[in-house]
Amino acid sequence: MKPAILLIGNNGQVGRELNSMLPQVGDVQSLGREQLDLSKPEEIRRAIRTFRPNLIVNAAAYTAVDKAETEQDLARAVNAVAPAVMAEEAKKIGALLVHYSTDYVFDGTKTSPYAEQDPTNPKNVYGKTKLEGELAIQQSGASNLIFRTAWVYASEGRNFLLTILRLATQREELKIVCDQTGAPTASSEIASATTKILSQLFGELNASSLEDARGIFHMTAGGATTWFGFTQAILNHARKIDVSVPWFATATNGRPLIVRNVVPIPAIEYPTPASRPGYSVLSNERLNRTFSVRLPDWRTQLNSIFANS
Ligand SMILES: NC(=O)c1ccc[n+]([C@@H]2O[C@H](COP(=O)([O-])OP(=O)(O)OC[C@H]3O[C@@H](n4cnc5c(N)ncnc54)[C@H](OP(=O)(O)O)[C@@H]3O)[C@@H](O)[C@H]2O)c1
Repeated sequence: MKPAILLIGNNGQVGRELNSMLPQVGDVQSLGREQLDLSKPEEIRRAIRTFRPNLIVNAAAYTAVDKAETEQDLARAVNAVAPAVMAEEAKKIGALLVHYSTDYVFDGTKTSPYAEQDPTNPKNVYGKTKLEGELAIQQSGASNLIFRTAWVYASEGRNFLLTILRLATQREELKIVCDQTGAPTASSEIASATTKILSQLFGELNASSLEDARGIFHMTAGGATTWFGFTQAILNHARKIDVSVPWFATATNGRPLIVRNVVPIPAIEYPTPASRPGYSVLSNERLNRTFSVRLPDWRTQLNSIFANS
């Protein structure tokens, strides 16, 4: 049976990619902010009751990490209350809820990759509200898959890659944090992994061995780097790319790169409203063991963005 899929948040980095890939799995109805405002629980209930999907995929979230410190109520409404309502409605109709969470549920005090069951301790409002969303889904009794990902970027949207490219056209020197370590993950890889997993779960060979494959899974690129390392890799590619490539021309506003120097600095020298973990590398072993899905190394993912231009 082809599942009826309700994709919530089709305009974000992950949502856009899911919107083009999920039709491989089932019949997709997708809703953006214009059709469904997640700060309004009644709208969420109405949408789910109207579509009665077999599968709900929530790619929307309040992702402005620094702004969340001063917009706690809105961040909580979108990241905690909305997923709780989705889960409640999913349970009523027996739908599977697929949701995304973040490496920022951890405090970064570990020095080796975090496993799913490691203790959480978010350092900022965004991480706290995302954790509340996870817990609400798990406590709802709805069938669920929660994919924790990290440092998401794409060739469009709001992300670190595009910020660095813009700044590289405006400044000769960039000071970049070198003591926060994570795994930059392309949204296309998250959507592709999600699609593969859902194809397994809803495919013809629907393995009964996967019926219990529910709960939290880490889903990030392989390897790890710092924001400084990521910046150096981005600029290496940027110096070689054909500048007329449309997404690159948009990112740089058609201006040449003038950056000469990238200076590594500790986070303490770049104060932000939200504090961030110093180390938030996630172990993807459970994902690999359960679904035989492994996302490429972060360097390979970055290569692909610049190569598929
Ligand atoms: N971005 C990261 O670095 C990162 C890191 C770790 C985990 N994650 C998680 O990965 C998932 C996907 O993130 P992403 O990077 O694709 O996020 P994104 O690009 O920021 O997209 C988020 C989407 O949510 C929508 N949204 C926000 N508030 C809404 C509201 N009140 N009603 C309806 N829609 C609303 C936004 O709508 P508009 O387009 O109208 O603004 C946007 O389309 C999220 O669960 C996020 O928490 C992201």
